This record gives sequence, structure tokens and C-alpha cells, in this order.
Amino acid sequence: MAKIFSLRPLFLCVLCLKLTFAVADEGMWVPLFLAKYNETDMQSKGLKLSAEDIYSVNHTSLKDAVVQFGGGCSGEMISAEGLLLTNYHCGRSRVQSHSTLENNFIENGYWSMNRGEELSNPGLTATFLVLMEDVTSEVLKNVSSGMTEVERFLAIEKASKAIERKMVEGTHYEAKVKEFFGGNEYYIFITETFKDVRLVGAPPYSIGNFGADTDNWMWPRHTGDFALFRIYSDSLNKPAEYSPDNVPYKPKKHFEISMKELKEGDFTMVFGFPGRTQEYLTSFAVKQLVEDEDPLKISIREKRLAVMEKAMDADPQVKLNLTSKYASIKNYYKKFIGESIGLKKVDAVQRKQELEKRFTEWVNADANRKVKYVNLLTELEKTYAEFAPYNKGVVLYNEAFTTLDFVTYVNSFTKLSDLLKKGVKREVLSAEVERQAKYIRSFFKNYNRSIDLDCANHQIKAIIDFMPEVLTEKQRKKYKKNNDEYISTLFSGDLLDSLKSVANLNALIEREGKKNIPDTIKSENGFGANDLAFQFVTSVNENFKENIYPNYVKLDIKLDSLNRIYTQALREFQTDKLFYPDANSTMRLSYGKVEGYAPNDSVVYTPFTTIDGVIAKENPNDKEFVVPAKLKELYEKKDYGEYAVNGTIPVCFIASNHSTGGNSGAPVLNAQGQLIGTNFDRNWEGTAADVMYDPAMARNISVDIRYTLFIIDKFAGAKHLIDEMTIIK
Ligand code: ARG
Ligand code: GLU
Repeated sequence: MAKIFSLRPLFLCVLCLKLTFAVADEGMWVPLFLAKYNETDMQSKGLKLSAEDIYSVNHTSLKDAVVQFGGGCSGEMISAEGLLLTNYHCGRSRVQSHSTLENNFIENGYWSMNRGEELSNPGLTATFLVLMEDVTSEVLKNVSSGMTEVERFLAIEKASKAIERKMVEGTHYEAKVKEFFGGNEYYIFITETFKDVRLVGAPPYSIGNFGADTDNWMWPRHTGDFALFRIYSDSLNKPAEYSPDNVPYKPKKHFEISMKELKEGDFTMVFGFPGRTQEYLTSFAVKQLVEDEDPLKISIREKRLAVMEKAMDADPQVKLNLTSKYASIKNYYKKFIGESIGLKKVDAVQRKQELEKRFTEWVNADANRKVKYVNLLTELEKTYAEFAPYNKGVVLYNEAFTTLDFVTYVNSFTKLSDLLKKGVKREVLSAEVERQAKYIRSFFKNYNRSIDLDCANHQIKAIIDFMPEVLTEKQRKKYKKNNDEYISTLFSGDLLDSLKSVANLNALIEREGKKNIPDTIKSENGFGANDLAFQFVTSVNENFKENIYPNYVKLDIKLDSLNRIYTQALREFQTDKLFYPDANSTMRLSYGKVEGYAPNDSVVYTPFTTIDGVIAKENPNDKEFVVPAKLKELYEKKDYGEYAVNGTIPVCFIASNHSTGGNSGAPVLNAQGQLIGTNFDRNWEGTAADVMYDPAMARNISVDIRYTLFIIDKFAGAKHLIDEMTIIK
């Protein structure tokens, strides 16, 4: 299959013909430009609305029912009283935070039976887009071609800040200018953020995460990945911090929910906040991603996950504490694997090379173009090569170093230590010591030394292999003799003993206070300098800050600049192609249709799953495939209420909407703009779409809204929530 999509005639067969010429549903479109670029195409594919119905600044439109949930996910309003639907996995850490082993909502689910039982979540936000505008010319007005990248950056930042300030002056809105097309265009986003978002209901883990990591990024899927929250506002319907006096928010718009028949081929769209795609990379960058970056991340995470899994299996409290963290590490671990396989399968590097070859011919055919672009690709190639070792350093630092809890802990002493080295007033030091002592106590509440040590065992080795200079000559000898033993010595000092750490802090004020002039306290070595863990962490940090990060940044800036020019050049070169900007966590609309796919020779997937498949996957001995007794009972009695379709309950479906991380929880809508599902994942063969979209393979996975309603009503007995919704039968 791999070769088919490079469009080599040799491989064309009947099936391939159909797939190759299927109309591409690639694109994460900017709501502001739907009328200009997409409306006609969308309507020709089945949309029954106008672009104005979807995004408008003049009247309420669908966009008013879409939220960015908790910064990283999407969600949608489904009642006039602020009810919000998103994914279970987007709300999972909140469910966890309300849980104890005795009252385990992860295990059992949580359903509030009245507003008083809705649980508040400090820090959780829901953000609406008020409007957006193209401000490119204003942002770039002081940018000139002779500027260095830094000058350009500063000019853009200054102009952006000024526009942001002007746009929201005297309102409670926020404004943010964001770059598009690698910095060739700039749009401003005016948003309204609600800060009292309460947990209303979540199914048990065995429904919300059914199939867990085995099924994650896979089709066919049987997960009820949904959760319900409610936005609260002050009495004027405006955002407010949590208060018991807050009232349910009345959104400008909430989605109608369609229980009508859903068929293969039906028009669909996903309206959410995709996080990051990189569709316009060069072959050099893709090669680096596939050959170096993905494999490195995969290998570090693999070992880390094995350590965590062992500890979680052995202790239910550890399991409860780590569920969310484990899932998020594993999630991208698996994604990186899928992405590498997928990019190889579509010959991504080779296809980029072919494009670059044609691009070069195009450049060489015109004198003006030659002046602008003749050296561009060679520069990019050279710069990516220079970038590689620093990029590796940054990946290692982020994945193998800062992920260790003891590193975070030791780093927390840096401020204190720096203050001491400089000299500090007694009161300031006391306050800082107090803050630090508090941090130490809270840190050790959840600290699991043995997991941290086991992870350090391989992660620290990867760090030392890459930058041996972080050890002194003497340390290196010890490390070489027995590296396991050396690493365990990092964990044996006073600093990683909570009681001693606090005592040492108190002793410090005493001791240094006596030595120095009465009200200024100063200590040459700062704090903790004699501790091996402190020495090591400091040495890695210094090495990173001096030798890796500055070079990384310098080259990254250069790459940004070259890629900006390349993106622009590609748009000039491929005039027949409609370009969409890479995802950048701003609101986008993707559209496609309910559609199966054929991943491999003879394998064909249909687009719907049902509750029968849940039962077929059941395995009481496998924690990922347990089916709750109540659900089985409903299944056995066929007690499906009005949610049944052909004698069963639809569970998930796939469609060809271009999506990525951040689209989780996003509304999946039909041609009338009614809610038919909640986006939560992508198929394995489509994970490469963040870098190279393949229309034959890329599918988004949604929970069918009828499964969500069935679970709320029949499984949880929370009919009062259904009664709030606007359901179209
Ligand atoms: N893969 C989906 C997304 O990227 C779902 C993740 C949650 N599920 C899980 N088993 N970890 O985020
Ligand atoms: N599960 C992803 C999220 O949390 C969406 C899957 C994807 O990457 O498409 O946003």
C-alpha cells in the first residue's frame, strides 16, 4: 500500500484508483475565511448551512457553542444552562482529584444528581472565541527586509502587544495575536474565559477509557470517552472565580443533538482547537523526525512506562495517583510509534524530496525566483544538520531529565541558593525558607522514591552518555566502575530526605545568620552544594544552559526564518493548491464524511461500532477490557430505551475530518450543524497526518452521541441531564 500514494502509475489498481482520487479532506480551516475559501466546497459536499451560520461576528453562530477546555482540549455547550460536553480523558485528572480509595470515582464513575453535587475544579477554565481578525499588515508594519530575526521578532511583539491592548481595553476579554503560515500572517483572537467549571458527570474508567492503551489510537474502538462539566458565571452571566453564589452560565448558543440516522457518506465537520501540525516541513526535517527524534522519545518513554506499570500494579494507591500521568506519557509514546511507521509507509521523506526537486526546477526557471530562493533548500539542509545534536540535547533534557521528580525537587532549591550566594536580608530569607519548607512537605506527600530511582537508572545514563562532561573526572571513574551504584548515591544525600531537608533549612538561617553582619545573610556556596544530587542536577543544568540551549535557540530561530520563506515560496509555487495554516491551538474547522478505510491488503474497516463489540471485547481478567456489570445487564436485557438503532447501541464512528491533539472533546457535527458525536482520537494509520496527510488513511474517531446519551440516561440514571438538552429525534 505504501507506494500507492506516491501516485506511481505502476501501482494503480481498481481499489487504489478509488482511494487515490477520493476527494481529499485535508485541512484545518480558519473560521474567519470559511466564506471566502470553503463555503462552496462544503455545500457541494452536503453542508446545509452557510459560512455565516458557522462563524459570524454579527449574530450568534455555531462557534459560540465551542470552547477550549482546560487549555489543551476542546468541548461544546449542550444546554442553555451551561452544560459542557468533552472527553473523559480531558477531564480524567479532575475526576482523579476528587477521588480517594474509599470514594473512587475513577473506578465507579461520578454523577451529580443535582446542581449542589457538581464539584468545583480550581484552575480549570473554559474559553470562548468572541471574534478573530486578520491583523497581518498592522503587525508587520515596522518590519523591514534588512532586519535581523531578533529585530523582526521584537518589532512584531511590540506591534502585537499594542493591538492586543487596544482591542480589549475596558472589557473583560483577552486578546492574543498568533502567527500563521510560519509567520507570514498574523491573526488576533479575542476570547472570554470562564473560571468556575464544575464536574457534573463521568462514566467509570471501564467505559470512559474502555480498551485503554491497547485500543488507544486504534480502530475499531468501543470507548465511551466523554465527561460532563458545567460552566458557572456571576449573576450577570460574566466569568468569575469560583463562588458558591455563582449560577449556571447561559451560553449564547448550545448545540442541538441529533438522534437521527447516521450513514456512511454523511457530511461531518469537527469544530475545535487542534494543537500542532507540521505539514510544510522539508525532507530534511521529516527525516530527522522519523530517524532520530521519534525513536529517541520512544525508547526513553518505553522504559519509564515499564517502571511505572510495575509499581501501579503492585499498589492501588500508586495506581490511583499515577493513572493520569501514566496515560499521558503512554499516549504520545504510542503516537510517536504510529507516526514513524505511518511516515515510512507513505514514503514521506521521498515524497518531500520529489516536491523539493520540482520546487528547485521552478526556482531555476525564473531569474526573480532565483534571486529569492536559489539557496533556500541547501541552507535548510545545512541548518537541520547543524541543529541535530542540539535538538537531541533538548529532547533528552526534556524527556529524560526534567521528567525525574528528584530533578524537579532539587531545582526548587535554586532560587534559595541563588539568594544566599548574592546575600539577602534576613526577613526575605526567612520567607523564602518557609516557602521552600512548605514545598518540601507537599512534595514528599506523593513522592515515590523507588519509581524515581528506577527511572533515573536508565534516564540518567542517557544523559551522562550524551554529556559526560557533567561529571567530574573522579565521578566519572566511579560511574564507570558501577553506574547503577553511582546513580543510587544521587538519592542517598540529605537533600532527598524530607525531614533533614527542612531541618537543614532552619539550621541555615541560624548558622549563616551568626556568621554575617546582622541583617544580611550570605553564603558563598548557596544551599545544598555539598549534596551529590544537587551537584549533579546543577551541573546538568549548567551544561544545558551554556552548551546546548543557546545553540539550539540560535539555530531554531534560523530555521524559523528559513521555513517562513519556504512556506511562502511553496504558496507561490503551488498556486493551484488551497493552503491552510498549520494547527496552532486556535479554533479550526475540518470537514469530511463518515467513511471507513482499507489499511492493508484485504483489510477493510467499516465506520461504525456498537455495544455488541464492547461485549465481544470483554475480558474480566484484563484491566483494560472490564465491562461494568450494569452495562452488561442493560445489554442482556436489551434495555436500550430510545437510543437503539437496529436493535443495538451505536458506540463510536470514524470520519475523514483532519484532526490532531487538542481536537479531543470537539463537537462532531452533521450537515445541519447538529451534534452527532464527540471527537476523541485518530486511527493508527492516520497518526502520520500531523506531518503528511493521506486522504485514504486519515480518520478521526468519535463517540457516537447516542452512546453518550444512553450511558447518561440508562447506565447512570441521570435523565435530568438529558432533559436539559435539545434533542432532535
Ligand atoms: N489518543 C487520544 C489522544 O491523543 C486519546 C488519549 C486518551 N486515552 C488513553 N488511553 N490514553 O489524546
Ligand atoms: N486524543 C487526542 C486529544 O487529546 C486527539 C487525537 C488526535 O491526535 O487526533 O486531543
